Amino acid sequence: MIPLDKILNTLEQLNQFKFADGSPSSFIELGEQGADQDILTAQINTLIAEGQLHDQLAWAAHMTASVSPQSLFGQLLSSLHNGNLLSPELYPVLAAIEQQIITWLCQLFDQQYGHFTAGSSYGNLEALWQAKQANPHSRIIYASTAAHYSINKACQLLDLDLRTVPCNSESQINIEDLRSACLAAAPMAIVATAGTPAAGAFDSLDDCILLAQKYQAWCHIDAAWGGSLRLLPECSQLFGQHLAKADSLCFDPHKSWAQPKPASILLYKRPMKPMMSIDANYLQQPPAASLNGSRGGEAFLPLWFTIASLGVKTLREQSRFPLAQAQHFAEQLADRTSWPIYTSPSGIVCFEAPKDLTGLVKTGMLSQAKIARKSVYRAVFISTLVRSEELISHLEPYF
Ligand SMILES: Cc1ncc(COP(=O)(O)O)c(C=O)c1O
Repeated sequence: MIPLDKILNTLEQLNQFKFADGSPSSFIELGEQGADQDILTAQINTLIAEGQLHDQLAWAAHMTASVSPQSLFGQLLSSLHNGNLLSPELYPVLAAIEQQIITWLCQLFDQQYGHFTAGSSYGNLEALWQAKQANPHSRIIYASTAAHYSINKACQLLDLDLRTVPCNSESQINIEDLRSACLAAAPMAIVATAGTPAAGAFDSLDDCILLAQKYQAWCHIDAAWGGSLRLLPECSQLFGQHLAKADSLCFDPHKSWAQPKPASILLYKRPMKPMMSIDANYLQQPPAASLNGSRGGEAFLPLWFTIASLGVKTLREQSRFPLAQAQHFAEQLADRTSWPIYTSPSGIVCFEAPKDLTGLVKTGMLSQAKIARKSVYRAVFISTLVRSEELISHLEPYF
């Protein structure tokens, strides 16, 4: 029997251990002989210390959270197993777990099918490829100016005509502009963003879904960032009434559910068309005709073990904590400055500042972004370690 509690304890200690940030005098050379233990230890310390940058009370630059001991154990399980689901008949337990978690995610997002990918850049690409097959008469994709750049990437790769639609003052796609654009030139697909990368805004999903339906176009929801809010009953209105009518949706547990990368899911309403014709005569079952190749449990065992051991309730509570910190941060900024503030439902707070805060950007406390062509500073509340008070204390000298 595995002493699970002992393993989790050890992983927790490892997770909380602060590695010394001493940089080794030189980078280890890769050669015929392995490096000396002391040099290796120094290099590992430096590497982990670099990774621990975001394990701080005032680190809110990007969508990078600390991984829990449960997720770390899931990752370890995946490495220990290291099977390949290209041969699912050899790994029935791993295959059943994959299906179980896909079914759970399908139910959560009102979709029917799904597969894991290496990130929503892949998810967006695959979804738009499917959209192209479903509607070969148009090449036009509408997405807001605030959509993630991977939509643009996908359109370039797929030779699609991306037309960006302006946003309203809340960084949401302007529905009236979208309606007029569709009237002028019918879409092949509409991409709605549930959690924009800069501001964390949610497009009106219902409007986008129903408009796409009107033109028999595909509706893809990019919920890479905001999808985690689906677990919270108090956020249900953000997803509207018609999510089940969306054709596809992608979500990254490796962002706001703090799972190790890569953990991303692409969900869809109907079985996807094979992306290519393939013949792999050495496999017992034909491989999935999607971009995925070899895969084990790396994308889903960390999430599966988190839910299996802690339960959904804990995941829900963990999602609420950074949102409350974001709200507190926005309130404090509003109380103590007259800086323009842009709040969002998904834990991103942006603001304009009359002072130069690039010092805080360099240390990973904040990032910089553009909202409606305005340069803003951006705080991303994702980690359960980050404290609003701490960030405010670093900003105080500039108030
Ligand atoms: C809204 C949105 N879509 C897509 C992506 C791309 O996801 P990934 O980096 O996992 O490919 C991101 C990444 O930040 C995002 O915020």
